[in-house]
Amino acid sequence: MQNLDWSNLAFNYSKTNAAIISRYVDGAWTAPVASRDFEMPFNLYAGVFHYANSCFEGLKAFRGVDGKVRLFRPDENAKRLQRSGAHLDMAAPSEALFLEMCLMCVRENLDFLPPYGFNASMYLRPVLIGCNPQLGIASSKEVLFAVLGSPVGTYSGAAGLTPGTAVLARNYDRAAPNGTGSYKIAANYATSLHPYNMAHRQGYRELLFLDPATKTKIDEFGSSNFLAIKGNTYVTPLSDSVLPSITNKSLQTVAADFGMQVEKRPVPVEELAEMDEVNACGTAVVITPICSVDDKPALESTEVTKTYCFGSPEHCGPVSEKLYRRIRGIQDGTEEDIHNWCVFL
Ligand SMILES: Cc1ncc(COP(=O)(O)O)c(C=O)c1O
Repeated sequence: MQNLDWSNLAFNYSKTNAAIISRYVDGAWTAPVASRDFEMPFNLYAGVFHYANSCFEGLKAFRGVDGKVRLFRPDENAKRLQRSGAHLDMAAPSEALFLEMCLMCVRENLDFLPPYGFNASMYLRPVLIGCNPQLGIASSKEVLFAVLGSPVGTYSGAAGLTPGTAVLARNYDRAAPNGTGSYKIAANYATSLHPYNMAHRQGYRELLFLDPATKTKIDEFGSSNFLAIKGNTYVTPLSDSVLPSITNKSLQTVAADFGMQVEKRPVPVEELAEMDEVNACGTAVVITPICSVDDKPALESTEVTKTYCFGSPEHCGPVSEKLYRRIRGIQDGTEEDIHNWCVFL
């Protein structure tokens, strides 16, 4: 086991033992290898550098209370990567190869997998990279698939369940109306960097994007999905420009298990005034409570036209905390995995 400060891990990359690599060349994937070298030669004409021929995933491995290592729903990530790859007309690994390489990555880097009890995990980053040299706009025919793994703590750096603030992205869009918002492709994140940086500089933890066509409905946060609790109902936006989050999907199941009503539907911005609890949810952020959302005419503006507040700025809402405890418990092996979501090493 590495001698790391497990209780103070940030959401940063750490150099670990190995990255797992396979290449798609001449119509087939090569057998995966563990590479100790993280620096690789790439042709400067590779499509990834010019046209963002790249998509990726994010999932976590946990060391459980019973000492067993669990991956949370990797099959769902494999399917989503295939969907993203198909949208880029790029080859993507089969579900079996994806899982094999994720498990291999955890095994090769096992001494970096945080122990149980530190609210830390190993974040796995599978990434597809278009490699062959090209000049014109075209999908990559040669692809590198890498699975990287880094030990991580909470996304915000604060203790889990510490509330943060958000601001609406009135004058920036993350995705075009019929564009790529529902795919986990690199280009979507490039689009969000400038407004995201601005929101962070202004002290907000999150940036909340609206539907790009009408700007009247909530889409999602820059890093994660939007989920709200309204009475006994779990509310999350139905939108073509939102990434289908595996965490959100799982939390909807958990909410239904708790006897809650689940509504996946368009959510008008003004409905924020009726929400009891609001959270960002995703693999990296798990559930992160949002205690307020500012509305401004433009992100650059110092004028705040309205602030929507949810619960206490110090504490997570009780329903959100219950959902958080159940999902984290399943990942840590302290709660029964009744839906068979975890895959063991
Ligand atoms: C934009 C965006 N939305 C939502 C999510 C949450 O998805 P998941 O729960 O599958 O991690 C992520 C993180 O992957 C994301 O980057």
